[in-house]
Amino acid sequence: LRSCALPQDMAGLKVLVTAGPTQEAIDPVRFITNHSSGKMGYSIARICMLRGADVTLVTGRTALEPPMFVDTIHVISALDMFRAVTSNSQGKDIIIKAAAVADYRPAQVSEEKVKKSDSELALSLERTDDILKYLGEHKAPGQFLCGFSMETEHMVENSRKKLVNKHLDMIVANNLKEEGAGFAGNTNAVTFITPDTQTELGIMDKEDVAMCLLDEILKRIR
Ligand code: CTP
Ligand code: CA
Repeated sequence: LRSCALPQDMAGLKVLVTAGPTQEAIDPVRFITNHSSGKMGYSIARICMLRGADVTLVTGRTALEPPMFVDTIHVISALDMFRAVTSNSQGKDIIIKAAAVADYRPAQVSEEKVKKSDSELALSLERTDDILKYLGEHKAPGQFLCGFSMETEHMVENSRKKLVNKHLDMIVANNLKEEGAGFAGNTNAVTFITPDTQTELGIMDKEDVAMCLLDEILKRIR
């Protein structure tokens, strides 16, 4: 019902959202991942759609239903996400990267199940591409780029570094150690950081965080 009351203030805007974790295979039965539930990104995609935007969602594996009226692309690894995002970023007015992308993947993926032995096992990991950094370096004029940042310490400082290094217009910082924030729950406590502003929100529902985030972005692109 609430959705019926939403203003259509994003009509005509093309938005790309990423959500969820990536999975990096070790062998056919195992992978490396993180605790991302996808809820924040899915909420953003849904609210963009309800406010009239044309939305593409690139998502890692989650337990969530894809939002209605959103063009949803399912991916597994960071490499898949890189390909899906870079081939869908052209012509987008706003890109919001809420996904928790693995920074490292196993350097070799075993074709057969790795069998245990009595000795220690070391996994060699290699870096994945930084998708957001790539987008920042190849940004079209007028495109608004928003990242997310998960930290357990020095949240604002570290997030500001990401804003600058990745050429972002905004970064949404989360402190994982804060009550009511982070990956799994339905609430989040975030700080919006731009080159010249910093806005701290209290604990709120992820859909309300999405509403506030989109209000902040619209103020800056219009
Ligand atoms: N990101 C990305 N591609 C990666 C890693 C991160 O696009 N390979 C994006 C995330 O989607 C997020 C932002 O970069 O929007 C910040 O992610 P985060 O993990 O907080 O920061 P990193 O830059 O990866 O640095 P670190 O993990 O060392 O804090
Ligand atoms: Ca990271």
